[in-house]
Amino acid sequence: MGSRVRTGVLIAVVACAALISTGSLGQSQPQSQPQSQAAGHPPDEPKPLVGDPVHGKAISYTCLGCHGVPGYRNAYPNYSVPKLEGQHPEYLVIALQAYRAGDRSHITMHAQASSLSDQDMTDIAAYFAGEPIKPRSSAAAPQAAAVCVACHGQDGVGITPQYPSLAGQHEDYLERALHEYRKGGRKNPIMATFAGQLKEDVKADDVRLLARYYSQQRPGLKTEERPSTVLTAHQ
Ligand code: HEC
Ligand code: HEC
Repeated sequence: MGSRVRTGVLIAVVACAALISTGSLGQSQPQSQPQSQAAGHPPDEPKPLVGDPVHGKAISYTCLGCHGVPGYRNAYPNYSVPKLEGQHPEYLVIALQAYRAGDRSHITMHAQASSLSDQDMTDIAAYFAGEPIKPRSSAAAPQAAAVCVACHGQDGVGITPQYPSLAGQHEDYLERALHEYRKGGRKNPIMATFAGQLKEDVKADDVRLLARYYSQQRPGLKTEERPSTVLTAHQ
């Protein structure tokens, strides 16, 4: 790795530290200690929510019409519905909050998230994520990923629960997401910066290259086929 790479990683780490400390990443980290709660939290410190996957299942059957069907696609524009199984549940909540707030422009997901409370989102995230995938040590990421690996790992497993895992995700969805950060359809300040710096022309298409690289990493995210009617929700 050259010094340019090291500088890039350093910038990445500094940028994310700054964003965490200003709260741009959404919730504070869940570091609940039952003892300190019993002793009384300061009133301004939000209590971390604990996900209940059974309740999550009961209220998410509408989601399954898209997220419980392997290979399901968004119609206009045409790209794959993202895989959620194996994702960090903390990240799934942040993503849902972004759709609810309009920081991600997808209209259907905005409608879906609008009626959900933070507790509902935490419960649904616990149900969908299941067991989050674990990093492998031995992937060799391409040069274009030198900056990305500081947060998304060499093999596409997010290094903190707030950073999405990309491993095994649909290639066309990853490309779509990167374009949305570049064009402003997604307003996350971290990713606007990093996606904005990618080369995308006939000679070097880093967006496509990185989407392909991360989509091919294993272990990867999955879409588990799940029944999707109100009748199956409580089974
Ligand atoms: C009509 C199909 C459809 C339904 C129903 C639907 N989704 Fe989605 N969902 C999508 C698509 C398409 C995207 C990608 C949107 C984008 O490009 O940002 C998405 C994105 C997401 C993401 C972001 C994933 C990531 O990696 O950032 C989460 C989380 C999510 N949906 C959860 C849900 C939940 C929970 C429900 C039910 C309350 C639901 N979805 C209902 C199609 C759907
Ligand atoms: C400083 C940490 C950091 C760096 C560096 C970084 N990312 Fe991200 N990335 C994030 C965070 C945080 C999110 C979630 C943003 C949001 O809430 O929309 C994200 C989201 C994404 C997503 C969307 C995932 C999904 O499921 O919707 C993709 C794709 C992505 N990053 C790719 C990259 C690539 C490629 C690079 C390198 C060019 C990169 N990231 C660099 C932190 C980072």
